[in-house]
Amino acid sequence: MSPTLLIRPFQTPARGVAQIPGSKSITNRALILAALADGVTLFTGALFSRDTRILIAALQSLGFEVSADEAACTIRINGLGGRIPNARAKIHVGNAGTAARFLTAFLALAPGGCYELDGDEAMRARPMSGLLDALTAGGCRALKPDGSPASGFPFTLHTTGKLGRLEVDASASSQLLSALLMVLPLSAGAAVSMKGSTVSEPFVEMTARMCEQFGRPLERHADGSWFCPAPGAYSAQSSYAIEPDATAASYFIALPAVTGFRASIRIEGYAAGGLQGDTAFAKVAAACGATLKPANGTLVTESWSGIRGGDFDFNAFSDTFLTLATVATLADGPVKISGIAHTRKQETDRVLAMATELERLGIKVAPTAAELRADDTLSSLTIFPSKAALRRVAADGPITIRTYEDHRMAMSFGVLGSFDLFGDGRPWIAIEDPGCTAKTFPHFFEALEALRTNFVRVSVDGGAASGKSSTSRRLAQRHGLLHVDTGAHYRSLTRALLMADASADDLASVKAALSKLRVGSRLITREGARSSALTLDGILPDDADLRTPEVNAAVSKIAALPAVRTFLLEYQRSQVKYASDQGFAGVVMEGRDIGSVVLPDAEVRIFLEADPEARAQRRAAEGQSDQVTQRDHLDATRKTAPLVCPTGAHRLDNTHKSLEEVVAEIGEFIKVSALPR
Ligand code: DC
Repeated sequence: MSPTLLIRPFQTPARGVAQIPGSKSITNRALILAALADGVTLFTGALFSRDTRILIAALQSLGFEVSADEAACTIRINGLGGRIPNARAKIHVGNAGTAARFLTAFLALAPGGCYELDGDEAMRARPMSGLLDALTAGGCRALKPDGSPASGFPFTLHTTGKLGRLEVDASASSQLLSALLMVLPLSAGAAVSMKGSTVSEPFVEMTARMCEQFGRPLERHADGSWFCPAPGAYSAQSSYAIEPDATAASYFIALPAVTGFRASIRIEGYAAGGLQGDTAFAKVAAACGATLKPANGTLVTESWSGIRGGDFDFNAFSDTFLTLATVATLADGPVKISGIAHTRKQETDRVLAMATELERLGIKVAPTAAELRADDTLSSLTIFPSKAALRRVAADGPITIRTYEDHRMAMSFGVLGSFDLFGDGRPWIAIEDPGCTAKTFPHFFEALEALRTNFVRVSVDGGAASGKSSTSRRLAQRHGLLHVDTGAHYRSLTRALLMADASADDLASVKAALSKLRVGSRLITREGARSSALTLDGILPDDADLRTPEVNAAVSKIAALPAVRTFLLEYQRSQVKYASDQGFAGVVMEGRDIGSVVLPDAEVRIFLEADPEARAQRRAAEGQSDQVTQRDHLDATRKTAPLVCPTGAHRLDNTHKSLEEVVAEIGEFIKVSALPR
């Protein structure tokens, strides 16, 4: 068991590209199909996890040439058109359901083969009998070590190389059917029909579509049985791209629900029209409040507008039910998840495991864990959300979630633990045996960590009309930062002082007026950016009122007064916490003394410059008559907090640069600072 992992809640929005591995289901199907193809196939984007390694090792032990480059996520396999080199082998399938089922059917293609197969304790209890019974009826023999007929692991499989017409009971697992479908084309005249129905239909669909991709489309007779109209070896693929795992993607679709309203996670290669039925989770997430933006094979998942409760049937994409079940504890109403009876016989009894751990967190579920234990046919779970209950239970310290060797338990509770339950970053969930994610997603917790952006403070200083506002706003918009215009603070204050008949030449009048003013903040949107604006006595003046000729004329003199600067300094510094509390990824603050006085330790410090003529033209274009050089002179020569290029600041002359160029240049500094430490 790997050491317990404490989950650190996200205090900044989750942002970045989710590093999602290839799909396990596709990788393991592709390995089987390529082994049955004529020639060499190369996979890109392949998954390297416990389950795929088990299948790769098994194929190697059967005499196949398989070479893998883990760093490049590629696998090269030499298919032998249906021939299995070794007629004898001992194979251990661990707890890998796909490897267990797919290999068993695959081995049946060997004439006169004899294979000893075993699995982990958990695998021994998982459904196999439907497949073994079908193969036995077709002429194979599956025997227990004592020689009696086997219905599960361990068993020795004696094979004939012929399949014939098979009937499979795949009601417990669609993999039992998929396993047989993939070998159908290799045995002329073979057909597979189903006793009853199966679960997780989309996985059967995936199998059929992949058989077709490898050159052997399957069809169905009128009676529903599957057959291959043009049997033979599959066609090797010079390059076959494995889709990213849609189930794994569900954790990153759910993550913004818990990490605040400015999240933005990119899931590359995520296609709703792809092979994986689990992409249906996106629809459930959207129904529960997720904002999802699909574009050219990339899904951008953004913050949820709350987590809405509801009733959902997960039968066709049940691997993702755990993802919803954990975040459901934070929802605004009960969440009912049905159609999940078959998951009670997967890596663990998933419904019972989920109910048990949710109850340990103080969450009410129906049926209860005790009821589930008493009746293994119960097939749904309703979660009654309560943050208060979570807080009560975790008040004395983090709760360790038991994961029952189930990777999906570990990952879904990892997402829940990312929620800042107490609002102070205190961890409240720990994950037992986090290494169990190796089954499908070996680097899950690293991928989660990689989306944790560091809060970034950006200072943008420069003379009047040097482009500070447009640059800062675009940066705020691009990087999810809160924009703070301190020039507007001085303008707002100047206006208020003028209205109170205070004058820069009469310090007592200024101090008297200041002592009566109450400062506050209001979130506003300007040019697509979110800005925090200063309110004085609750009043937020119109933008135009901050740029009147009277304010323009007086502001630099007022701003030079130490009493005025002291009055605003603490308020301006408090904007960093305000931005963080509001869930922004950072703050971009513009002015004259931000990098030198207000935030001298800002991670990114910028000093903008432009030719005086260019600046005068910019103001004129805005319809403003403003003596920029005159104001600069006053701002640069005053005693307190003069306009200077802060030490260590990046000096950027934008006279001949477009806004986009400047923003891209600064964006690089921001990205580096925002990287997880
Ligand atoms: O950025 P702006 O032109 O709106 O700023 C108006 C005035 O406010 C500017 O002439 C000087 C003063 N100011 C300051 O002294 N310190 C700041 N950090 C920002 C502005």
